[in-house]
Amino acid sequence: MGDVVVVGSANLDRVARVARPPAPGETVLAASYSEGLGGKGMNQAVAAALLGASVRFVGAVGADADGDRVRSALAAAGVDGSAVRVLDGVPTGTALVTVGADGDNAIVVAAGANAAVTSADVERALAGVPAGTVLVTQLEIPDEAVAAVARVAAGRGARLVLNAAPYRPLPADVLAAADPLVVNELEAAALAGDASPADRDVDAVAAGIAGRCRSVVVTLGAAGALVVEGTTVTRCPAPPADVVDTTGAGDAFVGALAAGLAAGRTLATTLPDAIAAASASVGSPGAQASYPAMARAVRPRS
Ligand code: ADP
Ligand code: NA
Repeated sequence: MGDVVVVGSANLDRVARVARPPAPGETVLAASYSEGLGGKGMNQAVAAALLGASVRFVGAVGADADGDRVRSALAAAGVDGSAVRVLDGVPTGTALVTVGADGDNAIVVAAGANAAVTSADVERALAGVPAGTVLVTQLEIPDEAVAAVARVAAGRGARLVLNAAPYRPLPADVLAAADPLVVNELEAAALAGDASPADRDVDAVAAGIAGRCRSVVVTLGAAGALVVEGTTVTRCPAPPADVVDTTGAGDAFVGALAAGLAAGRTLATTLPDAIAAASASVGSPGAQASYPAMARAVRPRS
């Protein structure tokens, strides 16, 4: 049995529900306001832990109340947060979200401490990782930190789960280490250099990307996901879901996939479970807030 180490972002999400988002210069009153823990890295770490993996989270927060909330929530989920750096003079990452009556989000992310994660932080935190560890990262931290995770994975015989979200171009050697690279359809199209995703069949897009990394998973929303290993493309449907809130579904997917791989499963056999977990997460509100219900749905009292 291996462990999971997630290197990534942690945010406090501040969410206002509004009739419609304000136009420039305008002030609107919110119908309601809520706060929740987020950030792709922390979401994935919490999801993996609630699904039974032994998980460590590596990242940074500010020396402020939001940072305290991040660290106590990691502890409450059973995630080892001892490698989270607490930085003076930098705020904890924040996402400012307005949700309109139509359910559409507008989001501003202030990266704060997440932008201060360095390659040295990563190297220090991962210095002793055993071979077979599942290392997970995403793109809400600096390029140098992502590259360091890929380097450590290659150097120590660890497995790299690379979630290229939010999408930005990656160096070829970082991509080459991914096993799997996890992207949604839009990110897959961006990686393929395809400006209009509808023009090309997603299987062909995925197969094209597969030549640049060890394996690829493309998530397809309500349609599930597909995995490409070598030249084999396997599609896996999602179960029907009552959609309440899809926030954090992609992160639930990545966390569940990492938990399955750390438990010694193959990518192909873990895929249906990761889809089941992500699809269960859309049935309740919030990102991390929906993960306990997700875990109950897919792990009936194990
Ligand atoms: P992202 O949220 O990163 O854009 P997707 O939309 O592809 O990623 O969703 C990731 C996973 O979440 C899917 O593979 C699926 O398991 C689940 N999911 C997302 N939306 C739905 C939905 N409407 N119904 C059922 N499952 C969903
Ligand atoms: Na949810």
